[in-house]
Amino acid sequence: MSSNPKSWTDATSIDELPDDDVTGLQVGGRDIAIYKVEGEVFATDNTCTHGHARLCDGFLDGHEIECPLHQGKFNVRDGQPTCAPVTEALRCYPVRIVDGRVLLNMAG
Ligand code: FES
Repeated sequence: MSSNPKSWTDATSIDELPDDDVTGLQVGGRDIAIYKVEGEVFATDNTCTHGHARLCDGFLDGHEIECPLHQGKFNVRDGQPTCAPVTEALRCYPVRIVDGRVLLNMAG
């Protein structure tokens, strides 16, 4: 499925993403959080799995995003919860960088 070019959606330019920070974007009709950590880009759903908080309003520490509402944490590489009260993983989106553009696979 990931080899289908139609699965990949252009999200933004890599130059527009701040280093070691999180950015909220609408991509393919979904609210997505994009993280740039040490030059690498990761993408997850932007809504916390614990409640209605946007992770782009949270605090990114290394590969960990802290939710602004109850301070639950997720690993941005695989979406897994790393700190209570979150227990459910975030959906992650595979990322490709092509000619400076950030492409997300929204099909998975
Ligand atoms: S809404 Fe994110 S930890 Fe509660």
